[in-house]
Amino acid sequence: MHQEQAITMLGIESSCDETAAAIVRADSDLSNPRIVSQAILSQLEDHRPYGGVVPEIAARAHLLHMDALVERVMTEASIDYAELTAVAATSGPGLIGGVIIGMMTGKAVALTHNIPYIGVNHLEGHALSVRLVASVPFPYLLLLISGGHCQLLIVQDVNRYRLLGTTRDDAVGEAFDKTAKLLDLGYPGGPAIEKAARGGDPARFEFPLPMVGTEGCDFSFSGLKTAVRRAFESENAKQENIKADIAASFQRTVGEILMDRSLQAMDMFNKVTGGLKKEPAFVVAGGVAANGEIRARLTGLCAANGFAFVAPPMSLCTDNAAMIAWAGVERFRAGLTDDLSMAPRARWPLDPDRLGFQQ
Ligand code: KG4
Ligand code: ZN
Repeated sequence: MHQEQAITMLGIESSCDETAAAIVRADSDLSNPRIVSQAILSQLEDHRPYGGVVPEIAARAHLLHMDALVERVMTEASIDYAELTAVAATSGPGLIGGVIIGMMTGKAVALTHNIPYIGVNHLEGHALSVRLVASVPFPYLLLLISGGHCQLLIVQDVNRYRLLGTTRDDAVGEAFDKTAKLLDLGYPGGPAIEKAARGGDPARFEFPLPMVGTEGCDFSFSGLKTAVRRAFESENAKQENIKADIAASFQRTVGEILMDRSLQAMDMFNKVTGGLKKEPAFVVAGGVAANGEIRARLTGLCAANGFAFVAPPMSLCTDNAAMIAWAGVERFRAGLTDDLSMAPRARWPLDPDRLGFQQ
């Protein structure tokens, strides 16, 4: 295959607290996908004192670092701007200040070098990222579990999604973060809870299982958070192992909620696709996918229900620009490019049929 036929995409991500740029390349038929270069700058330390992401601090950090990151990936890839097929930037949903900075950078590159601009939905980036590293055909089931999202989706095709369920309040990673904050375990909360849980008794506390057993695939975590607070305040906080026991019980409970909702989603997937697909993929993405217990439980659920468990490597599961560049490649191939007048979107549902729901 000639080089001219390859698609070379610059990807830009800045919708939350990661400033990132990447160059991804694939042959024109999407075969041979590869990350040529990537750079990511986490703002973890900037936000740590506040126990969560502060939008204004995030936007300032993106502004400060984005140009240098783009330059870096271009240099590392040893390519000239003229060799780019197009540029893809996250255009929502997310913290609007950050989204604007990434979009403006992407549009400036597109305008200066006269190449197409592709506005990528951050969630589509997560949804398609697995195809950058594995040949997973459409349709497949996606469980997106991160600090900002908690969704079950059927990925039907590029630009075509069916939302099966989403959270009615907190995202699952947010529940981990809030619980860790309450237990004073540090930020980000997920890894801290997982570590504390190793020494705890997962059966000590019976926390509620919001939404479990109900129809559909929606989630809710705020009741669980309240129950954790009550347990922590009612017990003697100095009691030995209380934090570890709460962490272990909380993690087990979250695992049970995700299992119940995922099983429902598998049923719905089989109904929608007529159950014709042999061993369809169940893809998990987002920072919470790093959790060992949750991964193990979902792997077991997939094996028992005829789904193939697929988790992209952690570096692709959490926010990054390679997934945005890859979504750009897939959209470019499908003829989906955008106008430079495209506006940033703080909210941007992937499935327009479920507009009324938080996505
Ligand atoms: O995908 P991500 O890096 O960023 C977005 O939110 O988009 O996800 C971060 C979230 C945080 O809430 C963090 O606490 C959670 O993922 N997380 C974990 C683990 N590692 C990260 N949650 C549970 N267990 C973990 N090991
Ligand atoms: Zn994300």
